[in-house]
Amino acid sequence: MNKPSTNLSTELSTDDILTKDTHLIQSFANLDGLKQRDARTAIVAAKGAYVTDSDGNQMIDGIGGLWCVNVGHGRQEIIDAITQQLQTLDYYSTFYNFTHPTAAALAEKLASLAPGNLNHVHFANSGSVANDTAIRMLHHYNNRLGRPGKKKILSRVGAYHGSTHLAMAMTTPAYSDGWDTAADGLVHHLRAPYAYREAGEMTEAEFLEALADDMTTAIHDIGAENIAAFIAEPIMGAGGILVAPDGYHQRMRQITADHDIKYISDEVVTAFGRLGHMFASKNVFAIEPDIITTAKGLTSGYQPLSATIISDDIYEVISQPGAMFLHGMTYSGHPAAAAAALANIALLERDEIPQRVRTTGKVFENALRGLGDLDIVGDVRGSHFMMGIEFVKDKATRETYCDTINVGLQVAQAAQARGLIARPLGNILILSPTLIMDDDQIGQIATILRESILAVMDGLPK
Ligand SMILES: Cc1ncc(COP(=O)(O)O)c(C=O)c1O
Repeated sequence: MNKPSTNLSTELSTDDILTKDTHLIQSFANLDGLKQRDARTAIVAAKGAYVTDSDGNQMIDGIGGLWCVNVGHGRQEIIDAITQQLQTLDYYSTFYNFTHPTAAALAEKLASLAPGNLNHVHFANSGSVANDTAIRMLHHYNNRLGRPGKKKILSRVGAYHGSTHLAMAMTTPAYSDGWDTAADGLVHHLRAPYAYREAGEMTEAEFLEALADDMTTAIHDIGAENIAAFIAEPIMGAGGILVAPDGYHQRMRQITADHDIKYISDEVVTAFGRLGHMFASKNVFAIEPDIITTAKGLTSGYQPLSATIISDDIYEVISQPGAMFLHGMTYSGHPAAAAAALANIALLERDEIPQRVRTTGKVFENALRGLGDLDIVGDVRGSHFMMGIEFVKDKATRETYCDTINVGLQVAQAAQARGLIARPLGNILILSPTLIMDDDQIGQIATILRESILAVMDGLPK
């Protein structure tokens, strides 16, 4: 390949952008497929609930960036807060004995919003690292307590916890097909709470029992003395929007607490309003975990920032005399990111966005459930602004179309051509828009999806 030109002009045509883009490696992408020029979309601007591509097409951002632009695009208050912060203090670390007022204020704010005794916060720059941090902290915690064997992690099939080596080991194995996971033997994956495909003839209550049995059996087989933590998303996102049976999290919390296994609630997606509350663990699922990890909606994506929020109990052990906290990233608590988070939370509070989502999110949920009459829509599931549609060939048997047909991708492409960005995941389509959608925009999404699904159905083999 030739060396690229050094022209950095921002006024680029689609052709220019896509030529430069041949040097960029997209994430979670079929790199070979992306060699087809028209397979890529360049987004050049965004405002409110919409984004604009390099050909000038305006589209509803049906995935909120990447489940993260909770307050909507282009909010001046956040942009101003970042700018002012950079003018005052562009960078200083939170290493050694250093701190700065913005990271300190954000840590205090998060402690006040988090449930129970989750009062101590470590910052990083991605959800993956927030989850790695949680595990490193718990391993150290158990070392300090003189139980060096208590290290294994219970996760679940269908989970997504990130793509660093450790976070990927906790993620569902399907996401590392053909790739290695460094932490072999460290993680045990429990059954997915995937009612549509796993519950069979079971009632919801019976399915919950089956999942609880799976957890108890794993603890029995591995030994509680060898297990540090259970990690779970309140609703599984990138695994296909899997909503566990009613009472699942409380039940799992009880079983883990009975065995002195710490409960990590991965709220990278569910926090900051997506399910109608700042944090979903307590307010939606009635549990107080030992650790909450979060990112995405923390800054609404305006800056890369994540947080690992731990209980007083864990903090006391890892901050004992003689203990050293040997963990941290250069940009942990970056001033600009912390300023973005404070301004973002102020907006969420001022505009009562989580409260509004309790109404508008239900309108969204119902609008998507209305697509259930279409022949290939097997299941519509999720909650508020976190929804998934699963496509099938046969509603009665739940048989799917083969992978090469890729119905999710076809519907996503049809929707994009009609002005809506949605995220395909095999036979599933994921919608996680900004949280500022009004009834009209929600109606538009439902209409575009209906038209797109009908258009795709026309071309499917009978
Ligand atoms: C539940 C969950 N946890 C962790 C992550 C990883 O976050 P990041 O991509 O910021 O590393 C994601 C990303 O989508 C996620 O959905």
